[in-house]
Amino acid sequence: MKTDFENVIVVNHPLCEHNMSHIRDKNASADSFINSLKRVAQILMYTATKNLPLSCCHVETPIAECDALKIDDSYKIVFAPILRAGLALSEVAKEIYPEASIQHVGMYRDEATLEPVWYYDKTPVSYSNPEKIKVFVLDPMLATGNSSKAAVSLFLKKGISIENIVFISVLAAPEGLEVLTKDFPGLKIYTAHIDKSLNSKAYIVPGLGDAGDRLFNTFEK
Ligand code: URA
Repeated sequence: MKTDFENVIVVNHPLCEHNMSHIRDKNASADSFINSLKRVAQILMYTATKNLPLSCCHVETPIAECDALKIDDSYKIVFAPILRAGLALSEVAKEIYPEASIQHVGMYRDEATLEPVWYYDKTPVSYSNPEKIKVFVLDPMLATGNSSKAAVSLFLKKGISIENIVFISVLAAPEGLEVLTKDFPGLKIYTAHIDKSLNSKAYIVPGLGDAGDRLFNTFEK
């Protein structure tokens, strides 16, 4: 579904909605939360990768030879999970396309300034052939847009054009979408839902709480 935001695609699917009802539920078990989040991620990922380039190949089935199509391996497909909640999405990415390169980027949110603080970057110092790279930046929660913006900027600085970068989030706040679409016209963003707003602590409302804490069970007791 097209939205008021340029290049923001809300993926509508009954199974997305069904699984969203599990992950939003504060009483969902850890098992239900993780697996439902991954099911939503799978639908998002299949939709967001639908324009990957294909090339022809020839294979032999047990019965006969035939022509077939495969992802054009002159392209490198990169999934870049923003640590740590993005890890759940990269697990799904690896399942649907094991040949992809997973290049983790790590930022935590300074709770006072809400600005991202880098602590990990597994991207190469430079890409030898940036025009042949397709990057999918993964973060289940697009909230203020600050860490998403830092991750997208990193790939742009390394020579990858905005047409070859896609952002995937399970939930997005209008505030974060405003930041990304204003700063990066041409960036394609796939999400399962655009929520109402952020609260004073920059959590998405109604959202699902802290995705990292719910994935890794790191709540303060
Ligand atoms: N990150 C989260 O995990 N949840 C939010 O609501 C916002 C940012």
